[in-house]
Amino acid sequence: MAINLKTSDEIEKMRVVGALAARQLEMIEEHIKPGISTGELDRICHEYTVGEQNAIPAPLDYRGFPKSICTSVNHVVCHGIPTDDKILKNGDIINVDVTLIKDGFHGDTSKTFLVGKPRVLAERLVKICQECLYRGIRTVKPGARLGDIGHSIQVHAEQNRFSVVREYCGHGIGTIFHDEPQVLHYGTPGTGVELKPGMTFTIEPMINAGKAAVKLLPDDWTVVTKDHKLTAQWEHTILVTETGYEILTYRSDDTIDRCV
Ligand code: MF3
Ligand code: CO
Ligand code: CO
Repeated sequence: MAINLKTSDEIEKMRVVGALAARQLEMIEEHIKPGISTGELDRICHEYTVGEQNAIPAPLDYRGFPKSICTSVNHVVCHGIPTDDKILKNGDIINVDVTLIKDGFHGDTSKTFLVGKPRVLAERLVKICQECLYRGIRTVKPGARLGDIGHSIQVHAEQNRFSVVREYCGHGIGTIFHDEPQVLHYGTPGTGVELKPGMTFTIEPMINAGKAAVKLLPDDWTVVTKDHKLTAQWEHTILVTETGYEILTYRSDDTIDRCV
């Protein structure tokens, strides 16, 4: 499996688009409150991407996806399609997943937001899922392996009696949205592809409050938990550096070092 290593010019372009994707998630935060529809969130993001950021929303028309962002509420694991009749209510949790293209390169990031004041379980799930992402990121350095990342995420989720979705994973990213390698969110230490400086990929754990099983709805996009229990997801685009990692989609509300 040939994993392409980015040149310093390409890395600079990944930094630019990663920052745009991060700014977009910061921008949308104030709009996420009870009463707004996911369709409206999509329109706001689309306008911002195209009108303010001079970038392209990668999901739109990607393999037939109809909207510019993914909005996944409560028991929706990923790839939720924004609609005008899905209105957020107090206590919901919603993952907003944005991917931008600028100068031919992709930046992909997502965050699970709390709508109003969710219950204790929902808040804990969202927090543990972010910790899973951070533990995965802290594993990234030259010589580490993909299995080390997956293992660090799986252990933290399962120690907290949550489960890791198996069917969807992180991915290499650059001029191609979903490139090699696949970045699993479970695994065995010391196994899998060895990390090298210049690799760029996402880590995007989906963590379920109940069982790990998921199902695809008839729209062929929306993925839900089979038991209809809550699920959360957080995603960053990461660069492997000589010394460790750099988070290309770093936001002001992140509580991890941007690079080490
Ligand atoms: N952004 C998602 C990911 O993290 C992929 C969305 S594909 C879409 O890989 F078509 F649903 F937008
Ligand atoms: Co992704
Ligand atoms: Co994404």
